[in-house]
Amino acid sequence: MTSTHLFFVLVTFFLNISITFSTQLRPGFYEQTCPKAEEIVKDVMLESMMRDRRSAASVMRLQFHDCFVNGCDASLLLDDTPNMLGEKLSLSNIDSLRSYEVVDEIKEALENFCPGVVSCADIIIMASRDAVTLSGGPNWEVKLGRKDSLTASQADSDKVMPSPRANATALIDLFSTFYLSIKDMVALSGSHSIGNGRCFSIIFRLYNQSGTGLPDPTIEPEFREKLDRLCPDGGDLEVIGNLDATPFKFDNQYFKDLVNGRGFLNSDQTLYSLDPRSREFVVQFSKDQGAFFAAFVEGMLKMGDIQSGRPGEIRRNCREVNAGSIEQGFVKSF
Ligand code: HEM
Repeated sequence: MTSTHLFFVLVTFFLNISITFSTQLRPGFYEQTCPKAEEIVKDVMLESMMRDRRSAASVMRLQFHDCFVNGCDASLLLDDTPNMLGEKLSLSNIDSLRSYEVVDEIKEALENFCPGVVSCADIIIMASRDAVTLSGGPNWEVKLGRKDSLTASQADSDKVMPSPRANATALIDLFSTFYLSIKDMVALSGSHSIGNGRCFSIIFRLYNQSGTGLPDPTIEPEFREKLDRLCPDGGDLEVIGNLDATPFKFDNQYFKDLVNGRGFLNSDQTLYSLDPRSREFVVQFSKDQGAFFAAFVEGMLKMGDIQSGRPGEIRRNCREVNAGSIEQGFVKSF
């Protein structure tokens, strides 16, 4: 790089004040700059749930898949480009994550009111909270002020996101790398109180658990028959089933189901059946919905605090980086 070129990129870099590196998150971040932000997000979320009830679950899941991969920075929402393989087609996300268009709608509504102010990363956090509350779960104050990433990484998502085959012990270890406790992990798994999973995610436990050629013995027999009918061996793997017995209501039914051997995913059932450290909380939450709600809120807040410290911006369109920002992000690596 010539010195003139270096001078040019550094000047462009420092002139662009929309790119920052660290962020102090706090409640009411948009009080002055976009006072109606939280109201707008909730309204659009509610409209979307009226069209498609499942969208509550699908949007809430986005927080997990965003925050675990290089922090809560909306990297998840970036479409692939010729120079970047993003996270949408990673192992856990492909053919599985949905409702990206709900975030687009929220963003559009916010851009109409206060252009260039509210980050896509914060939209995910607000909409996830609203999805839970509007499904009958707890309400809480979210911390805001996140920036949107300038890049995304399919490989990073593949490295971090757990498979439905994961077991409680592996999940305890994974969550601890994000300073999330066993209680946080079990409570956050309680998000599976709403939503669906595909036969693709459980076929191994129905017919070939751990390569045994047999079903997972921890599945309650009547429930297994039901799952066998839903997901016959050799059948359509895209068929969906309920993650708990009340898939549109955010409640502690999920934990009651686990105690009764009626967990849908292997990762869920092992929280009760495998590891006594997680079982303790499954049992507690199955008996006390209030304790579950309190722990869930704490877990969501902690998960929402995960940040990468990388440079960010307020994207105008959640699917792409603002024009010109990539070159400036590039400067950082010199
Ligand atoms: C503990 C580790 C976790 C694992 C292994 C896991 C895995 C999965 C799998 C395999 C599915 C079904 C995907 C499919 O079949 O297409 C799913 C769905 C879902 N997950 Fe998780 N998950 C975990 C934690 C979480 C967390 C922390 C949240 C949110 C806080 C979450 C929210 C959801 C929701 C709401 C759905 C249903 C989505 C829909 O209906 O569109 N999950 N998860």
